[in-house]
Amino acid sequence: MSTRDEKPPVPLRTGARQDTFLVAPVSHFWASRLVAIDSTWNPKSWSRQLFERELNQPLSRVRGLFVGNLLIGYLIAHVVLDEAHIVSLGLAPEWRRQGGGRFLLKDFVRYCRLEGITAVTLEVRVSNIPARALYEAHGFAAAGFRRRYYSDNGEDAITMRLELGSHRAQERTAAGADFRAPSTKGSPHVQAAR
Ligand SMILES: CC(C)(COP(=O)(O)OP(=O)(O)OC[C@H]1O[C@@H](n2cnc3c(N)ncnc32)[C@H](O)[C@@H]1OP(=O)(O)O)[C@@H](O)C(=O)NCCC(=O)NCCS
Repeated sequence: MSTRDEKPPVPLRTGARQDTFLVAPVSHFWASRLVAIDSTWNPKSWSRQLFERELNQPLSRVRGLFVGNLLIGYLIAHVVLDEAHIVSLGLAPEWRRQGGGRFLLKDFVRYCRLEGITAVTLEVRVSNIPARALYEAHGFAAAGFRRRYYSDNGEDAITMRLELGSHRAQERTAAGADFRAPSTKGSPHVQAAR
C-alpha cells in the first residue's frame, strides 16, 4: 500500500490482530522511534545517524508496521538489481507474538514479488529461535553459515534465502501501484518514503 491510510487491496489474514496492522514506508519523522525499538533487542544498537542513513539510501527499503498512529516495528532491506537482503527486522517488545512480524515479512515478500525481485537473503543468529521460525515459516531455507559473524559475542550466523523466481509483468501492473512512493503531503509517516 502506498500510504498508511489505505487498506491493503488483498487483506493479509495472518494473525489475531492482523486487521489492526498497516505497513507503510517509514519517514524521517520516525527516526527516534526506530532507535528505541532497535535498542530493545539489538546488542549492537543502531544510532539515529545509522537509521537516517538508511532512510536516505536509495537502495534501502525501510518499511514500518503501524497500529493507529504508532510505529511498532520495522523491516529494513537493501535491494540490488533483482535481489533483496534484509538487514534488520524488529518489533517493539509489547507487540511481539501477535502476528506483527509475520504481517511485516509477508508484506515485504509480496512487495518483492511485485518488484520482480527473485531472491531474498538475510543473516540470523543461530540462537534466535523466534526469528528463524518466522523465516522458515515463510519459505526461507538455510543457505550457509558464517562463523563468528556477530562481533558482540562471536556468535555464528545462518544465512537464509528465499527464492521467488521470476514473474514480473502482470503482477506488477495489477498491484504494483500499492507500493509506489506516496504523496508526501499531509502525513509525517510517509515523507521521503520509498
Ligand atoms: C522475530 C520477531 C520479529 C517476530 O515477530 P513477532 O511479531 O513476535 O512474530 P509473530 O507473532 O508474527 O509470529 C510469527 C511466527 O514467528 C515465530 N515466532 C515468533 N515468536 C516466537 C517465539 N518466541 N518462539 C518461537 N517462535 C516464534 C513462530 O513461527 C510464529 O508463528 P506461530 O505464531 O504460528 O508459532 C520478534 O520476535 C522480534 O522483534 N524479535 C527481536 C528482533 C529480532 O530478533 N529480529 C530478527 C533479526 S534477524
